[in-house]
Amino acid sequence: MAGQIPRNFIDDLVERADIVDVIDARVKLKKAGRNYQALCPFHDEKSPSFSVNPDKQFYYCFGCGAGGNVLSFIMDYERLDFPQAIENLAHYYGLEVPREQLNPQQEKAQARKRDLYDIMEGAARFYREQLTLMQNSQVANAYIRQRGISPEIAQEYGIGFAPDAWDKVLNHLFKDQSDKAMMMDSGLIVENDKGRIYDRFRNRLMFPIRDNRGRCIGFGGRVFGDEKPKYLNSPETPIFHKGKELYGLYEARQAMRELPRLMIVEGYMDVVSLAQHGIRYAVATLGTASSAEHLELAFRHTAEVVFCFDGDEAGRKAARRAFDNALPTIKDGRQIRFLFLPDGEDPDTLVRSHGAEYFAELVHKAQPLEEFLFGLAAEGIDTQTMDGRARFSQVATALIGHVPEGIFKTLLVSELARRTGVSQDRLQALTDAATSKHDVAQWQREQISQQPATVRTAHKQEPLRSPQQPSATGHFKVKLNQSPAQKAICLLIHFPLIAHQALKLDALKHSPDEDIQLLVQLIDLIKHQQQMDTATLFGHIAGGVNGGINSARLAAYAALDPLIPDEGFEPEFLDIIEHLNYQHTHRQRQSQRQALLDTPFNVMSPEQKRELLLSLQAKQRKKT
Ligand code: UTP
Ligand code: MN
Repeated sequence: MAGQIPRNFIDDLVERADIVDVIDARVKLKKAGRNYQALCPFHDEKSPSFSVNPDKQFYYCFGCGAGGNVLSFIMDYERLDFPQAIENLAHYYGLEVPREQLNPQQEKAQARKRDLYDIMEGAARFYREQLTLMQNSQVANAYIRQRGISPEIAQEYGIGFAPDAWDKVLNHLFKDQSDKAMMMDSGLIVENDKGRIYDRFRNRLMFPIRDNRGRCIGFGGRVFGDEKPKYLNSPETPIFHKGKELYGLYEARQAMRELPRLMIVEGYMDVVSLAQHGIRYAVATLGTASSAEHLELAFRHTAEVVFCFDGDEAGRKAARRAFDNALPTIKDGRQIRFLFLPDGEDPDTLVRSHGAEYFAELVHKAQPLEEFLFGLAAEGIDTQTMDGRARFSQVATALIGHVPEGIFKTLLVSELARRTGVSQDRLQALTDAATSKHDVAQWQREQISQQPATVRTAHKQEPLRSPQQPSATGHFKVKLNQSPAQKAICLLIHFPLIAHQALKLDALKHSPDEDIQLLVQLIDLIKHQQQMDTATLFGHIAGGVNGGINSARLAAYAALDPLIPDEGFEPEFLDIIEHLNYQHTHRQRQSQRQALLDTPFNVMSPEQKRELLLSLQAKQRKKT
């Protein structure tokens, strides 16, 4: 292993390289105007959406969102890490990659790592060999068979067997036992408090964990029976960091040139069992929750990640954690989905009982992240109520606030607008506000304990309700599609002064509609005051100044942020009043006409006859 590659060498190399040459050597490019085009090598497509820009030296796929510079192309296309991609590119241009001199301490650390890799590789080989030794491996082989794993798959995953003994690895790998620190570093040996050292893994089925380059960096070992712990894992070592590795990723990349997706499951056995059934894109976290780092790692190799969870409570909790970690990693072109298995099943049991096709179908139907998000935001909320819908918008925008800027975020906001009927501008403003907050869960808790401020104002004399209790205003549920009158009331509560603009109300006074009556009463109340803001308005109503108005009912409307840009309040309000007037007159005419039609012609007065004629003529005119 060598020192760091100097930054200026990398810069010079990228400067010297021509992205068109480099890509064209791998994917045939066709000139299209200033740019070049090709079928995208990173996803399956029939017409070319992969474009290379020679001026700016970058590529971008409009289909899958893959994009970057010459080095990221080599990394993704050749599946190399950064230093390897530099080596590759330098080689193409006939250059030697220089390495920075290491100081003695770094030198020592690197040598130590190198030794660790060797030790782990030796251990993996040892465990594999133990599987073929008939005298002590019968149990292990029987177990593999019993779990439906073929010798080929077992070999592909390098599965081995740690014999039922205290010192096999100890004697095999550390014959001279000269370097105790090294033995401890490997995690293969443990020391008890009496200073005795012995093999960590005994009588277990061994799953080697491989890094990006296929080197063994750790193990998971499973017991053959019901002993505890069921799985024993290598501890963290200088070369093994659980939070950064995905079990089965190396094997998946070996099996498939292009990964259509990666599916993150829970267990070693799930990965192997799915592979046995031809599903090669499963990987597992190593007994830890899936982190943003896991996701970044997965997205280095594919554009789609599916999280697979048990259908039980623990699964839902894990999904929530995964979701929180996933939000900040979202980028355009990346897709994240959630698959919930039936309760009591894991991928292994399910694929064994129902087969690969059934499982693939489940994966196909997995819930997209946006659905999960909206589902989460709607949890415990009745989105049929105006109040609920406002809460829904708030929670959803808080969540969306964690998504990095991009097309996907914009799409989320517009989908939320579609679902709530609230304007996109308003939602965008809420999202932007939420973006500056950090902890979603914390923010949600704050929101819940504060909400809804206006209701509190309205219930000054009543004890405040806790967030868990049903809404005090619950009797006045407003349908998701609010009527124009309800909307006008809502606007009025938030901007009482717009009442002064409402002039033609005489007709509406006689409307039988309860909401319209409330609206008229409110306007009337406000018009008779010099000063009026929301709090004062509630003060008046709750204080019984206007006995006719039901304060609880009003509070139900107030709980909803009208979610309209400020400058839009007045025109929106006046539009509604006009609409209500029109509707009212229209309905009145309709019922008058109907009354006339219901009256026998021979008993009509001449006046009635003329009215009927006029109204029928008017109707006729409208039709033509
Ligand atoms: P599970 O307990 O769900 O087991 O652990 P499983 O994957 O279904 O295993 P089988 O089918 O009984 O063989 C899921 C994962 O959690 C970690 C392991 O990574 C395991 O694969 N785990 C579990 C541990 O690290 N230690 C344990 O004791 C148990
Ligand atoms: Mn299992």
